[in-house]
Amino acid sequence: MAKRVVLAIDGPAGAGKSTIARTLAERLGYIYIDTGAMYRAVALWALRLGVALDDSHRLERLALESNIEFAPGASTVLLNGEDVTEAIRAPEVSEAASKVSAVPAVRRALVAAQRRMAQGTSVVMEGRDIGTVVFPDALVKVFLDAAPEVRTARRVQDLAARGETQTQADEVARQMADRDHRDRTRPEAPLVQAPDATYIDSSALPPDGVVEAILKLVRAKTSNGGIH
Ligand code: C5P
Repeated sequence: MAKRVVLAIDGPAGAGKSTIARTLAERLGYIYIDTGAMYRAVALWALRLGVALDDSHRLERLALESNIEFAPGASTVLLNGEDVTEAIRAPEVSEAASKVSAVPAVRRALVAAQRRMAQGTSVVMEGRDIGTVVFPDALVKVFLDAAPEVRTARRVQDLAARGETQTQADEVARQMADRDHRDRTRPEAPLVQAPDATYIDSSALPPDGVVEAILKLVRAKTSNGGIH
């Protein structure tokens, strides 16, 4: 019988996780789950309600009560039925998400939701702790990285695509460095490469090259066991 596959993609901001994970999900016919969008959705809700970003009790309630959905086949994110796809990409939400995600109770609630979403179905799940905490037994684990200047340039490009051209590159670099530092040094589920993950540096590789390299890993793991 076909077994469900978890393909875990972790790494810092700007490493290219979303583009790669979305393409892989399309190519493989798996469900794509962007766990960063879930932390962003909770952060957006907290900002709207004026909940302090260190109020773990109220943040936990929001995380438990939030209904976060990904519209199938699209990159639409719904929070309690509302389309928040654009709203969660605002710079203040990035900053808030990085703080909210350090709260252990928030992580517990969202990790449980992430595991439920992957029940009985093959997924490409991207985040910071997928291969270490959410699915330590994932069949394929990738740690996707890129040089800091490449990651900054990508983020500046993303912001420009959203019409935000005011932020200077050195300001973007500083904000990304802050977020990365917080993600890598928090006590709960820090950003760290799983020992059995494959490290891929996307600095000089085009997205197609990264996708092909990961598809090769998936094929190598699935070709013998009838897994698909
Ligand atoms: O991936 P993205 O930049 O959208 O994630 C937003 C924030 O959510 C990150 O800065 C990180 O702090 C947090 N996050 C996390 N664990 C995940 C995914 C995201 O802590 N699995």
